[in-house]
Amino acid sequence: MKVLVLGGPNLNLLGQREPEIYGSDTLKDIESFVNSSFGEEFVSVWRQSNDESELINWIQDAKSEGFEALVINPAGLTHTSVSLHDALKFFEGTKIEVHLSNTYKREEFRKVKITSGASDGVIEGLGKYGYKLAFQYILDKRK
Ligand code: DQA
Repeated sequence: MKVLVLGGPNLNLLGQREPEIYGSDTLKDIESFVNSSFGEEFVSVWRQSNDESELINWIQDAKSEGFEALVINPAGLTHTSVSLHDALKFFEGTKIEVHLSNTYKREEFRKVKITSGASDGVIEGLGKYGYKLAFQYILDKRK
């Protein structure tokens, strides 16, 4: 099963960026952690962009590229992007939004979640384990 994993702005800085909040793992480390937790069940493709339009284009093309499920951490765009929300609605496969931090423990502006209603579910505050849980859900749901 092909799963597309998308990361929004600044997630390329994981490992260096506010490690007290996001931990010391890089995005590549999280990818390796998830891949090592599963076997042949998944082919996952991990992409990150600081550019909203690039993320939207990847979502629009996901079906024709053969992706059956999408795991997305829209990062700061979670709180601002109607366009990303609308693109997510277009993708018909399983969609999970993941956040490393528990945004409810943070600034007020992070409590506004524009993209979150477009996904099947949201996992947040569990760091890299949130990604693993998203994959586990996708796997179990398929069976
Ligand atoms: C984040 C939470 C967002 O509020 C923030 O803008 C991020 C990362 C998370 O994974 O905890 O960039 O999505």
